[in-house]
Amino acid sequence: MNSEIFIGYDLTDKIRKEVDKDNVFVITDTNVVLSYGALFMNARHYVMTAGEQSKTLATFEKIMEKMLETGCNRKTTVIAIGGGVVGDIAGFVASCYMRGVEWINVPTTLLAQVDSSVGGKTAVNLGYYKNIVGAFHLPKTVYISTHFLYTLPEREWTCGVGEIVKTAFLSKKVYNLMIDGQDKLMERDERTISRAVRECIEYKRAVVETDPRENGLRKVLNLGHTVAHAIEKVDGHKRSHGEYVLMGMLLESFILKDKLVDGVYEEIVEMVNKCGISVPDFDPVAVAEACVKDKKNTNAGISMIIPDFEKSRETFCSFDELHRGLVLWKLSR
Ligand SMILES: NC(=O)c1ccc[n+]([C@@H]2O[C@H](COP(=O)([O-])OP(=O)(O)OC[C@H]3O[C@@H](n4cnc5c(N)ncnc54)[C@H](O)[C@@H]3O)[C@@H](O)[C@H]2O)c1
Repeated sequence: MNSEIFIGYDLTDKIRKEVDKDNVFVITDTNVVLSYGALFMNARHYVMTAGEQSKTLATFEKIMEKMLETGCNRKTTVIAIGGGVVGDIAGFVASCYMRGVEWINVPTTLLAQVDSSVGGKTAVNLGYYKNIVGAFHLPKTVYISTHFLYTLPEREWTCGVGEIVKTAFLSKKVYNLMIDGQDKLMERDERTISRAVRECIEYKRAVVETDPRENGLRKVLNLGHTVAHAIEKVDGHKRSHGEYVLMGMLLESFILKDKLVDGVYEEIVEMVNKCGISVPDFDPVAVAEACVKDKKNTNAGISMIIPDFEKSRETFCSFDELHRGLVLWKLSR
């Protein structure tokens, strides 16, 4: 079964109708509650501490306890109102509570609206490992209401643009939109945001419908993510996921440069640079070791994606190739 997805500028009325139903449980975070708490204060809810550090089994357990204490049952619908962190953990809670209940996702960050809210991947981190405990559990409905985006801090905006840059090298439509409109997107032009959200969701939805469990085509959505997750771990989650995705795109395309279509590396550099991202100093051995622990790897080696629109594909490299690439990138700075 696919998720029903609504996209619009202000879907508050629709969201309120869901929240006002009898048997719901809202999960949100400490930042979102400040601006949008009025929307769900009368419903049973749990407010988690904002940020990636809360995406843990400990938070999962606290939410489960609160759901039990407040009488949630098998018919309860979990409603996630927040960014990708809230969506990932709420979806995972919904996949496990009493062996699985329905859930609704209301993404409030650009990153979540263009990417994480669609596709049913839910997870928490465990120690060193990102998204390692989780489940595929599609939300029943996704309400993508772009009005939420106007309270997003600048940095979170850049993170969302990061996932759009990723999609631009997988989808020609998103690429064309970014070539013409990246500046407008950075300025939060409403029409460009609306187009970007629709194009990204349309692309992701098509990929996920073809390969819901990531056995083939869906792997391309991990473009840049192997090195991104590794730097994120080594850097201690100091920045946001989307910023690390931009860094991952830069570094992976540098490492795979010989396998890319001519000019693609330079285009990636240009789009990433427009986002104003700088890669923190890193230890190539530590990053390469973190890549080795990535759950996407197989016996063939460390998994990465070669971006080439509809011909994008997975490739593998060895620890030594990856390490050499990272060292060379540092030397080229
Ligand atoms: N499930 C998937 O398919 C998938 C895909 C990509 C990323 N992810 C996950 O998504 C997470 C990153 O998501 P994110 O970038 O949305 O991070 P996030 O959820 O931490 O949100 C970023 C920050 O913005 C705040 N915020 C949220 N909405 C706001 C609003 N409307 N106004 C003001 N502040 C707001 C949050 O409180 C937080 O501080 C990562 O954990 C990543 O692994 C999942």
